[in-house]
Amino acid sequence: MTSTTDHPARELQGLIEREVAQAGGWIGFDRFMALALYAPNLGYYSARGEPIGLGLGRTPSSDFVTAPQMSPWFSRTLASSVREALDKTSTREVWEFGAGTGEMAFELLSVLGERIDRYTVVDLSAGLKETQRQRLLPFKDRVRWVTELPAAFEGVVLGNEVLDAMPVKLLVNVGFEWFERGVSLGPTDSPSGCPWVWSDRKTALRPPIEIDLDGGAEVGAMGREYLTEIHPQAHAFIGTLAERLKKGVIFLIDYGFPEHEYYHPDRSGGTVMCHELHRADPNPLVQVGLKDITAHVNFTGIALSAQDAGLEVLGYTSQAHFLINSGLLPLIIDRPVSEKAMAQKLITEHEMGELFKVMALGAGLGEAMDWSPMGFSVGDRSHQL
Ligand SMILES: C[S@@+](CC[C@H](N)C(=O)[O-])C[C@H]1O[C@@H](n2cnc3c(N)ncnc32)[C@H](O)[C@@H]1O
Repeated sequence: MTSTTDHPARELQGLIEREVAQAGGWIGFDRFMALALYAPNLGYYSARGEPIGLGLGRTPSSDFVTAPQMSPWFSRTLASSVREALDKTSTREVWEFGAGTGEMAFELLSVLGERIDRYTVVDLSAGLKETQRQRLLPFKDRVRWVTELPAAFEGVVLGNEVLDAMPVKLLVNVGFEWFERGVSLGPTDSPSGCPWVWSDRKTALRPPIEIDLDGGAEVGAMGREYLTEIHPQAHAFIGTLAERLKKGVIFLIDYGFPEHEYYHPDRSGGTVMCHELHRADPNPLVQVGLKDITAHVNFTGIALSAQDAGLEVLGYTSQAHFLINSGLLPLIIDRPVSEKAMAQKLITEHEMGELFKVMALGAGLGEAMDWSPMGFSVGDRSHQL
């Protein structure tokens, strides 16, 4: 059962089928994921009314929860780090990618008041933009939406759970050979009813580091199947930011790890995951358009793309360290127990505290070059990247 009608999903299926046919019978998973999530009017983020929220049994029902929804103290604490970055760079604008329901923008504008001259949202989801517009009505004179970044801009850039929503390429190693895993049309009488099948093509693409595929207990003469992802779209995104952000700081918050963990020989099934009605499943080929598809972030890759493009890595740590360093605990100490319990989930190791990381990147810092942002004052892990 889903909360959307299946009509857009059927149209989306037709669109992908046509694209696969036009491409000669095969498309890469990155293209499939891009269509499934962002095809205009049909993809998950275009057609799904309210994907993000606290849980089942609420109206409207949602598919997954993010930190700004979990507790307003996430954004209120982030505000201290944003204020510091605005001060250090002498800038007055915030740019948020993928603003979801607008909750984080609402809290930042409430806490930082006139310190923010203008708040710009860049989002691919038409449905969410409307939700954001309603939520941000009290600040409507200072908020705007753009579909493209200007050639030059400055300020603080934010992206919470945006990198994980960017399409990834799948690479699979079988018998010590690398293939790109893509999608083809399956037999029309498929017993699963799924119109798609995985289809692998030999490729010159490789993961960014060598993986010890000989290791592990279950290796036979043919080796074993090892599936992973690479993230060209996220790297291109960082390149564009680096080219256009003339002065400012970028905070990227997401789930992921450094590359030695990402491409660990034991992580042989990759990290692609789908979310629907607060349940996770690993099969992106079913319920296409009706559920979210994500992949973890390789933070080493993000740091390298950033450095190659001229940005400075200012810090990298867990969400727990970042929020505690930015002053979360004194902010919540006198709050009611229920509120504190939700805020605790942001930093508890088995909830969002450890899997989620925060990376800060600096552009055109000039005299602020030696500055170490407060969010990384204790527990900076940049050396682990
Ligand atoms: C998982 S949601 C996170 C929403 C919100 N930041 C939150 O934490 O609740 C991902 C969001 O990123 C947006 N997105 C994905 N790729 C994007 C891109 N290249 N530019 C702008 N927004 C993007 C999606 O449309 C969606 O709104």
